[in-house]
Amino acid sequence: MAPLFRSAAPCSAVCRSAVRAVARILLILPLALLVCFAGPAAAAQWSAEDLTVPVSADGTLVTFSEKEIKTGRKLFNDSCGTCHAGGITKTNQNVGLDPETLALATPARDSVESLVDYMKDPTSYDGEYSISDIHPSMRSSDVFVKMRDLDDEDLRLIAGYILVAPKVQGIQWGGGKVYF
Ligand code: HEC
Repeated sequence: MAPLFRSAAPCSAVCRSAVRAVARILLILPLALLVCFAGPAAAAQWSAEDLTVPVSADGTLVTFSEKEIKTGRKLFNDSCGTCHAGGITKTNQNVGLDPETLALATPARDSVESLVDYMKDPTSYDGEYSISDIHPSMRSSDVFVKMRDLDDEDLRLIAGYILVAPKVQGIQWGGGKVYF
């Protein structure tokens, strides 16, 4: 028994360090894989370019944070989703929330400020008259009570989401549009 113990001692030290090395690799490997694959994948979906949209008609840009856009998405789904889920307009497929349709409205609605303005006092597509009596807005929050829960910052985040969504989702955003 004694010789066996004596020879086992140095071996177990080697074995212990080998075990430790393997344990370290097992711990680091999944973390390394996560950093290599999950990192760029997440960044590709929400690049700074995707999060950058026009603030106003003069072309000034703003870069939202991911957190802001996610908050905007939630507010949008709650307040606007019943009619505009996926960026379409259920009851008027010609006036969707896709970038092309927003850009061609009068005034153009493809910036944060012009969308916030729409949520305060929406106008017909040709800009001729207010439609606040039939479209949810701050002006008509007595009828569209859900609008009472929104403040200026909420409106800004909803606008940000409307403009970022097509950059992240592509034609899926407003893609259900049909021209009559
Ligand atoms: C009850 C259904 C309904 C809800 C709720 C609703 N909308 Fe609309 N939205 C419409 C309709 C219908 C139109 C088309 C109006 C027209 O004929 O010009 C429209 C048009 C728009 C447009 C103009 C799009 C363009 O291309 O010019 C914007 C912007 C818009 N809505 C934003 C919102 C936002 C933001 C919310 C939530 C705060 C919201 N809407 C909630 C029905 C709705």
